[in-house]
Amino acid sequence: MVSIPSFQRKVLSFYEKNKRDLPWRRTEDPYKILVSEVMLQQTQVDRVIAYFNRWMGKWPTAKRLSEASKEDVLKAWQGLGYNSRALRLWEASKVLSKEFPKIYDKLIEIKGIGPYTASAVLAFAFNEEIAVVDTNIRRVLIHELGLKEDISLEKLKEIALKCIPKGKSRVWHNALMDYGAMSATARKTKIRSLSKQGKFEGSTRETRAAILRLILEKKEVSMKEIEEKFKHPQIKEILDKMEKEGIVLKGKSIRLA
Ligand code: ADE
Repeated sequence: MVSIPSFQRKVLSFYEKNKRDLPWRRTEDPYKILVSEVMLQQTQVDRVIAYFNRWMGKWPTAKRLSEASKEDVLKAWQGLGYNSRALRLWEASKVLSKEFPKIYDKLIEIKGIGPYTASAVLAFAFNEEIAVVDTNIRRVLIHELGLKEDISLEKLKEIALKCIPKGKSRVWHNALMDYGAMSATARKTKIRSLSKQGKFEGSTRETRAAILRLILEKKEVSMKEIEEKFKHPQIKEILDKMEKEGIVLKGKSIRLA
């Protein structure tokens, strides 16, 4: 097993030579970092850049986002997938526009902010020495430190915390992400990702997005039209889920909630 200082040197020197200039790295604003992290949870960096910049053009602060309409928020999210995440971000903005908590336990109380997102915001916005472990960083740690692939997330976080160079959490985590994206890739390391997309999710995501697109366009769509347009066997379940998530309302016809 390599020593922590040599691991740090390797990753930081890689970063010095190869770092990506990404819009959310030019800011320390926790709201902006939060938006970027939620977008990055489902979509590749290259695609997120344009969405992020457009979003900040429209809603540069949590306060501004909280004043937006649900319709505009869902429209701006179109193409990113997992539209319920856009709604949770919008709901979170109402809480965050008063004050953005700098405390982990307070952040994870907010719907839509989970352990990963909370730690990423604390590291990138406030340079807090907290372990940020996403798929890429997990792979880097396992590969570079020679850990077993079945190590628990809890144990991994313990090790990850010890690896953070003092006072450099922000830079370190950016460096780990770039190292994982460009050097210790999944292909090269053959380390398998943990994220398993459920069958239901995989088969319904496109249909969900298409239904929402139709509703945003037409405001109101009859159940008959939806059933005719989308021959998905689980159309009822899809709509139930969208209603439960506060995206649509079902009645005689379907419309935005
Ligand atoms: N993936 C998740 N967060 C990221 C970040 N801040 N930079 C690059 N890729 C990421």
